[in-house]
Formats: sequence, structure tokens, C-alpha cells
Amino acid sequence: MTEVTMEKIVSLAKRRGFIYPGSEIYGGLSGFWDYGPLGLELKNNIKNLWWRMFVQERDDMYGVDAAIIMQKKAWEASGHVAGFSDPVVECKKCKRRFRADHVSIKYQKNELGKILAGKEKWVCENCGADNEKFEVRQFNMMFKTYVGPTEDESSTSYLRPETAGGIFVNFKNIIDSFHPKLPFGMAQIGKAFRNEIAPRDFVFRAREFEQMEIEYFVREKEWKESFEIWREQSLGFLKSIGVEKSSIHELEVSPEDRAHYSKRTIDFEFDFPFGRKELFGLAYRTDFDLSRHEASSGVELKYLEEGEGKFIPHVIEPSFGVERIILAVLQTAYTEDTLGKEARTYLKFNPAVAPVKAAVFPLLKNKPELVAKAREVYTSLKKNVPQIMWDDNGNIGKRYRRQDEIGTPVCITIDFQTLEDDTVTVRDRDTGKQERVSVSELEQQIKVN
Ligand code: GAP
Repeated sequence: MTEVTMEKIVSLAKRRGFIYPGSEIYGGLSGFWDYGPLGLELKNNIKNLWWRMFVQERDDMYGVDAAIIMQKKAWEASGHVAGFSDPVVECKKCKRRFRADHVSIKYQKNELGKILAGKEKWVCENCGADNEKFEVRQFNMMFKTYVGPTEDESSTSYLRPETAGGIFVNFKNIIDSFHPKLPFGMAQIGKAFRNEIAPRDFVFRAREFEQMEIEYFVREKEWKESFEIWREQSLGFLKSIGVEKSSIHELEVSPEDRAHYSKRTIDFEFDFPFGRKELFGLAYRTDFDLSRHEASSGVELKYLEEGEGKFIPHVIEPSFGVERIILAVLQTAYTEDTLGKEARTYLKFNPAVAPVKAAVFPLLKNKPELVAKAREVYTSLKKNVPQIMWDDNGNIGKRYRRQDEIGTPVCITIDFQTLEDDTVTVRDRDTGKQERVSVSELEQQIKVN
């Protein structure tokens, strides 16, 4: 079995144009990442599949694309101004700050070996200093900004730390425009920003990332049933992009570790090379957000149901981080094997997420009749399957290796026989097997969504 390390994933991602460090030519900026052509296609495929499954194929879902910057009052009402913080400690020697729950603590013990409460020491991972005191401060993770030309308290706002906020503030708009029947959901895909104290593990903990979130509004008595349905449907989405249920572990989050708005949360964890960590989450947010926004804005955010009267619906929230899903997909796909006595590295992507669905080659690039026919096949396929790549560089073996490494499911070679009977060689990424396929059947074969 392939040992998949972060070094291997990060190196392939950079080398083959998936993900680059942000502001790289200036030495980088910790927690920010740029997507290259293949990473962008992979990311768009994941987002499009999610949107199709959870919004377009359903009749009970409403999509929104809200502004990233909202009124400060909205973040006060949601509890983020007061409570969206992580505990930090500062090293007395080098002044570097660390997340208090990430530092390595040296406990002081009494003579019976028991830990003395409040006597923790911690070691600075930057300069190695022994810090005597464990003084924790709360650090709010929202990025602050100013709206307009004055920089004072009244113009302060924040980059959103979760896309959910933009959904709740549009609840009334959706009710007024579409008159949906309960239960119904609102969905959004977009950027979120968190000034993480310690961004780490490639795109896993970034300061700028994307979320795909649903707020599914239900009657209070229905929340448990809806929670179970979303539990299954969320895993169904992961399976559809190649991440099997068996590789995901559910962690029931304890009340003290839950976010301030949640009465129940499951973290769906994945075994990343750096440990078992949260991939996505499912939370029961009660009627917390709509109630708080109603009280703070003075605008009624109730749902009117015949026979029942007016009430604030409760909410189930499946929340997916795009970057963590990309990382899980890359890790799941990363494979090393030997094919035809040659060692190779390839990405065994589910074709639905593969950034390139097929590559088209002329067998020889100095034979104009082969190149012309290959161009014809390529152009015709590209009309309906845009994620097609042309490659005529180097010999066929090298082209196969290059396509394997970026996870292209099939390679199509136009050779002399094509000119006679309009068939091509289709070579499968995983097995290396080749078969002859008629040009007229190619589109059907490579079309996956
Ligand atoms: N609206 C609920 C919410 O934001 P969360 O657990 O804080 O809950 C949801 O975040 C998901 O967003 C996480 O499961 C993770 O996939 C992703 N996420 C959170 N912080 C992240 C970060 N710093 N970098 C990358 N992804 C992150």
C-alpha cells in the first residue's frame, strides 16, 4: 500500500499546477494559497457536484451568494464578535503567540506524581524557552476591516468567518420571494476568512478558504429526524466524489467543545497524514441565529404556518470546507505502483472530480495527417466535454506518465489505423489496458457528468 505523506501531496500539487503557496515570490504568506489551472478545475468540479446534488436536483433548496462583508451588527448578533475566539499564550522570550491548546505543556507535579492545578509550564516551539506561567488570552479570529473612507469604530466590519451568516440574513428575502414550505433549506458556497493563530498542514487550516454550507429549516420537533437524514446525505456526497464512508469517523462533540450556537454537533473526521482531524461538520443550531437576528435587527424572522401560527424555525447545518475535501480527495487518489515494470505515481481520481477527463494525442507529431485527425477528434470532444487536454510532447510513454500524475482517467491516441477505420486507442489510467474504440463512441465513454 502507498504511504501517503504530506510532502508527497504538497510536492505533486505544486509541481503539476494544482496548488501554490500564496504570494510565493515574496516568500509566501502563511495561511494563504493560490490555485493553479488543475487545482481550480478540481475545486470547481467538487463545488459543482455539491451544488447539483444539494441545490439543483432538489425542490426544497434555495441558493444564495451573499456579500462577504456584512454590517458589524450582524456579527454581534450571531455571537461572533464576543465569542469567535481561540485561546492564545505568548512566549515571554521571543513574544511569539501560540494557540493555548496546541502548546506542549510541562506539568508540575507534587511528590505523589499528581498534577498541580494552575502550575502548568509550557515550552515555546519557536525558541525553546520554558514559560513558567500559562496565561491564556482570548484572540478573536475575525479579520477586521473598515467600510468607507473613515477608519473608526463606526466603520469597522469583518470578513465573514463562515458563509452561514449570509444565509440567515437572507431568510426573510427567500420567504418573501418564494414562499417555501417547511422544511426547506438555503445553500451557499463562498469564501470564509479566519485569522488562525497557527495556520498549518497545507490547506487544512488556512486563513482564507471556501465553505459549502446549508441551513436546513425545520419545525423544532423534526430536528432529530432531519439531523439523521443530513448525516447520511453528507456521507453520500463524499462517496460520490470518491471518499468512502469507511474512511470517515464520526465524533460526537461534547457540550463544552461545541460552538456557542449548537445543541448537537458531529465532526466527521478523516485520517490525514498529520492525524485524524475534522473534515466537515453537522450541527443542530436550534433557532439561535434567527432569534438573535430578529432581536438585533428588529425585523420579524418568523415563519407563518396555517393552523400553527408564527414561529422561528430550527436549523440543521451541514458545513463542508472545500479545501479539506480537496485534501481528502488528493490523499485518497494518491497512488504509487508499478506498471509494465516501471514505477509510477498517479492520482486515482473518481472521473467526476478529475480536472482533465481525457487527453488526446497524435501518435507522432511530425505526421501532419495524424496531427490533423487528432485535432479534429480533440476539437469535437471539447465541445461537450470541455475538460480535455491536448498533448503531443515527448513519446507516448512520457505522455501517459504525465497524465497519470494529474489523474486523467483515459488517454486517446490517434494512429495510422484511425485514418483507415476511424477507431482510436483508449488507454485506461488505472490498469494501463488499451482498447480500440470507434471515434463516434468516444464522447459517451468519457462523459461523466
Ligand atoms: N458554519 C459552521 C462552521 O463554520 P466550523 O466547524 O467552524 O463550522 C466548518 O467550519 C468547516 O469549515 C470545517 O469542518 C472545515 O471543513 C472548514 N474549515 C474551518 N476552518 C477552516 C480553516 N481554517 N481552513 C480550512 N477549512 C476550514
